[in-house]
Amino acid sequence: MTKKTADQYNDPSHNYLKYWDGREYEHAAEEVAIRRMLKGKHFNKIVDVGGGYGRICPVLKEYADQVTLAEPSQQQLDIAKDFLKDKKGIDMVLAQADALPFKDASIDLITVVRVIHHIPDPTEEFAEIARVLKPGGYLFIEFANYANFKNRIKYASKLKRIPREPVDIRKDMTSNIPFVNHNPHTVRKQLAHSGMQVERILSVSNLRSPSLKKFLPKSALLTVEKAMQIPLARTFFGPSTVYLLKKRG
Ligand SMILES: C[S@@+](CC[C@H](N)C(=O)[O-])C[C@H]1O[C@@H](n2cnc3c(N)ncnc32)[C@H](O)[C@@H]1O
Repeated sequence: MTKKTADQYNDPSHNYLKYWDGREYEHAAEEVAIRRMLKGKHFNKIVDVGGGYGRICPVLKEYADQVTLAEPSQQQLDIAKDFLKDKKGIDMVLAQADALPFKDASIDLITVVRVIHHIPDPTEEFAEIARVLKPGGYLFIEFANYANFKNRIKYASKLKRIPREPVDIRKDMTSNIPFVNHNPHTVRKQLAHSGMQVERILSVSNLRSPSLKKFLPKSALLTVEKAMQIPLARTFFGPSTVYLLKKRG
C-alpha cells in the first residue's frame, strides 16, 4: 500500500496550538515522562519526528546540543518559527517519518510523541527510524494505548479480548485521516523487529478525566501522576504509553 503524504496538519481550520488549551495537565505529564526517561543523559543530536509546532522541543533541548524538529506539515513548521523563536539550538526540517533526511546511524535520540495514531501500520517508519539511529541510540515513543485499564474492563465485561491490531477510533468515518489506537504489545514487537528493544515503560496521563481535571488543581494531579507513572507501567493502565528503546549496538 502506498502511503500518502502526511500533510493533514496543513488544514487551516485545524488549530493544533489551541488544541492544547485546557490540556496543561497532559502536557506537564508528558514533560515529567521525558525528564524521567532522559535524566542523567546528554545527547549530541535529538530529532523530534512529527513534532508539530515544537511543543516538546524546549524540554528536549535541555538534554541535547542540537534538536531538530522534523515535521511533514508546513503549517506546523510556520507556527514553530514563532513558538521557538527565542530558543537556540533548535532547527527545523520538512520531513515525514518514512523518509527522514538524515544519514544512516547519525542520530543519538529520536522522539515520536502523539504521532503513530495517524499511522495504522508503522513498520516502514520504525525501520526508517532504526536506519538513522546510531547503534546504541535511543527512541522515546509515546502513543495512545488501546489496552488501557478502561478498555480492558469494557472488553472483559463483554467476555472479549483487547485486539492486537490497531483500532480505528475516528468519530467521523468520512474523514480519510487515519486515527487509530495501538496495542502496546504489538507496537513493542514491531519495534523489536526493527532492532529496537524496550528498556523502560511508563504509563502516562493516568488521571486524564474531565471530572478529575475539573475538581483537582493541576499541582495535585501532577503529584499523583508522578507517583503513578512507574508502578502502573507494566499493566499499561493509562491512556498513553511511553517506551524508551535502545537500538541494538
Ligand atoms: C497530534 S500531533 C503531535 C505533534 C507533536 N508530536 C506533539 O506531541 O505536540 C501529530 C503530528 O504528527 C504529524 N504526522 C502525521 N503523520 C506523520 C508521518 N507519517 N510522519 C511524521 N509525522 C507525521 C502531524 O503532521 C502532526 O504534527
